[in-house]
Amino acid sequence: MSSPPLVPLFLFFGFILASSAMATDKPAPVVFPIKKDASTNQYYTTLRVGTPPTSMNAVLNLVGRFTWLDCDGYGSSSYHPIHCESSRCEAAGRGGCTFCFGPARPSCTNDSCLIYVATPFVEEMTSSVLGEDVLVLHSTKKIKHTSRSKFRALHAAQPPRVFALCLPSSSSRSRRGDLYAGGGPYMRPPNKHDLTKSLLRTRLLVRPSSIAAVSNEGDEYFINVTAIKIDSAPITFNSSILAIDKDGAGGTKFGTLTPYSRALYTFLHSAIFNPLVEEFTKKATDRKIKKATPVSPFGACFDARTVRSGVASPDVPAIVLVLRGDAQWRIEGANSMVRVSKDMMCLGFLDGGSGVGTTIEIGGHQMEDNLLEFAMGSSTFGFSNSLLLRNSSCSHL
Ligand SMILES: *[C@@H]1O[C@H](CO)[C@@H](O)[C@H](O)[C@H]1NC(C)=O
Ligand SMILES: *[C@@H]1O[C@H](CO)[C@@H](O)[C@H](O)[C@H]1NC(C)=O
Ligand SMILES: *[C@@H]1O[C@H](CO)[C@@H](O)[C@H](O)[C@H]1NC(C)=O
Ligand SMILES: *[C@@H]1O[C@H](CO)[C@@H](O)[C@H](O)[C@H]1NC(C)=O
Repeated sequence: MSSPPLVPLFLFFGFILASSAMATDKPAPVVFPIKKDASTNQYYTTLRVGTPPTSMNAVLNLVGRFTWLDCDGYGSSSYHPIHCESSRCEAAGRGGCTFCFGPARPSCTNDSCLIYVATPFVEEMTSSVLGEDVLVLHSTKKIKHTSRSKFRALHAAQPPRVFALCLPSSSSRSRRGDLYAGGGPYMRPPNKHDLTKSLLRTRLLVRPSSIAAVSNEGDEYFINVTAIKIDSAPITFNSSILAIDKDGAGGTKFGTLTPYSRALYTFLHSAIFNPLVEEFTKKATDRKIKKATPVSPFGACFDARTVRSGVASPDVPAIVLVLRGDAQWRIEGANSMVRVSKDMMCLGFLDGGSGVGTTIEIGGHQMEDNLLEFAMGSSTFGFSNSLLLRNSSCSHL
């Protein structure tokens, strides 16, 4: 049998990480630095994995259940494949047992857990070996941002029930945002207070991924948008398309953030996109912002010289997602506009067509510089709105 090319490591969605110095019940919250790649606009973290620790870049995937590593040349002494007759292999959706001639290495073992998954880079199934290893993690306890401590992967258990994203808007190599696993505190300097208590909250809906039927991917995260406003004016459309119907179509979900998804910008069903562009343009024109000829893939562009800069600049009408329970996600200029040239900026929302898929798919550009908390245990989605309004951001040194 051929040797699978990748070793997925269980990470926060597959197994629990606990400090050897800690009591065994609850893992300490940990934080992963998130950077934005300038050429692909992908968000990624750098993991320090194995013994001795090796640095590897891992792209962020909101839907993925496993952490993938290319194991060519991977030579960690603490790496263990998961046995194919184990309960952990079964829980991961066992696809078979590995068998390999040739020198033993992470990608060539016998009787290891084989799983079939869709990788984040190609939209097709591939087989892979499930293994585990140690990871260097950063704890959020008692510190401003991070401190370094060594954790040991213990045993399969419940994955953390809460994680939070603070995606950076800057792709400067020296700037980074954060992925928090296991809860707060969420400290964003120069604010001296933990953001946990000031987050707005709404119901989080979790649904198995639409590709789960054919693979082993994780859950997708939905929120319930009940109306959309431009500043304070509701836009008019048939709101029945916001609901999730009995076949699972419709609704508002977060994009996976991976390369093969339409990750970067938010997609809207045409029945929302068209009135939104119309109302946004009207409100922008009221502010003396001049229209420009749209450039693909955008539906509305403006003369950048007529747009003033504001606190959460550029100063354009806010796009407000009204969520179940009335919490309002205000998407300010920094998250709604895209600079396409010196003289032009465009509305960073795209026409998703009028098919039967998801009605709204929220992209990374709209998530940047907002703290977003996904709490599966309490089924709540918490959000800060633009941290730029608090003199803060998700791009820190
Ligand atoms: C797997 O088992 C076969 C048959 O017993 C053996 O020839 C082969 O060397 C083993 N492979 C590894 C990587 O140990
Ligand atoms: C979304 O919210 C509306 C209004 O509160 C409610 O009627 C509807 O059932 C909710 N949809 C889902 C999928 O929870
Ligand atoms: C809204 O759309 C639904 C389903 O597409 C349709 O049944 C309903 O009649 C529409 N309502 C209005 C007011 O157009
Ligand atoms: C924001 O930060 C700048 C520089 O860090 C400071 O001069 C300014 O007073 C701050 N504004 C607010 C509203 O905190």
